[in-house]
Amino acid sequence: MTPTGTPRPATPLLVSTPADLRAATTALLDGARSRRGAAGRPTLGLVPTMGGLHEGHATLARTARRASDVVVVSIFVNPLQFGDQADLDRYPRTLDADLGLLGACGVDVVFAPSVEDMYPGGEPLVRVSAGRAGEVLEGASRPGHFDGMLTVVAKLLNLGLPGTDADYGAYFGEKDAQQLALIRRMVLDLDVPVRIEGVPIVRDTDGLALSSRNRFLDAEERSAALVLSRVLGSLRARAERGEPLDLAGARAEIDAREGVDLDYLEVVDASTFTPRAHPAPGDDAAVGPALAVVAARVGAVRLIDNAVLPAVG
Ligand code: PAF
Repeated sequence: MTPTGTPRPATPLLVSTPADLRAATTALLDGARSRRGAAGRPTLGLVPTMGGLHEGHATLARTARRASDVVVVSIFVNPLQFGDQADLDRYPRTLDADLGLLGACGVDVVFAPSVEDMYPGGEPLVRVSAGRAGEVLEGASRPGHFDGMLTVVAKLLNLGLPGTDADYGAYFGEKDAQQLALIRRMVLDLDVPVRIEGVPIVRDTDGLALSSRNRFLDAEERSAALVLSRVLGSLRARAERGEPLDLAGARAEIDAREGVDLDYLEVVDASTFTPRAHPAPGDDAAVGPALAVVAARVGAVRLIDNAVLPAVG
C-alpha cells in the first residue's frame, strides 16, 4: 500500500532508459497527486542498488514504500567504482530474482540501465571527487572507489529527479557507512535537491551483516566472519559501560581468528570519518557519538561492518 492507501501491482515496471524512467515516474506521481487531492505533494522514493539483492535491500525498498507514493529501485553494476576487473566480473547479476523480491516489496519501477544508457558519452571525463574523507579507510584500500560511487550516485539522483512537483527522498543502507556519509556530504556541498535517508543494518540471526558478497563465503569462512560483528558488539558494550575501548585488544581478537585478514578497525566520527579515539590504553574511551568501523578479507571476500557507539561521560 502507498501512504494514500492505493494497492500496488505485484510486478514492477522495468525500464532501462532515463527518458522511460522520467515518463513512468511523472505519470505515477501525477496519479498520486490526483488521489491525494488536498493531502499535499506526492512523494518519490529512490533506492539505488547494484542488484544481487537480499533482505537488506528489501528493507530499504520497504522503508521507501512506507514513506512514498512512488518507489523506484535502480539496479546498475557501476564499473567506475570497481578497481579490479575480476571483482566487477564476479559481482552477482540476478535480475529475475531481484525483480521478484522488489515486486514483493511493492516497488513500482525498476530502472536497470545498460552501461551505455548510463554513460552515453563513454567513460566520464568529469567525475565527482570524494576529497579527503574518500581517501581514508575504504578509500585507502580501494583507491578511486568513492569517486566512482559518488559519480554514479550523482547521476542516479539527477536521473531520478521528479519531473513534476513532488517530495524526493533517496534511501541508502547504514552498513556502507562511509559511502552514506560521503553521499550526505555531496548532497550538502553540491545542493542536490533530495533528502537522504539512512536505513539501519540488517543482520542475519548469527549477527553477520547482510551483504551481496556473503553468498561467496563457504561455511567455514562464514563462521570465521562472525568475529567482526562480535568484536563490534563488544566495543559497543564497553562504550555503553563507559569503559576504555581497547581497540588494540579488539584488533588482536580479529587477527587471532584463522582465515580473517583484518584491514582496519577504527573508531571515527560518523560524518567526517576522522579518528575519534586512539588505541593507546587509557585514552580511548568513547566521548561522544562515534562509529566503530571494520573491514577484513575472509577468504576471497572483503567484508565491512560498523556499529554506532553511544556517547558516554
Ligand atoms: O551501495 C551500493 O550498492 C552502490 O555503491 C550504489 C550506492 C548503488 C552506487 O553504485
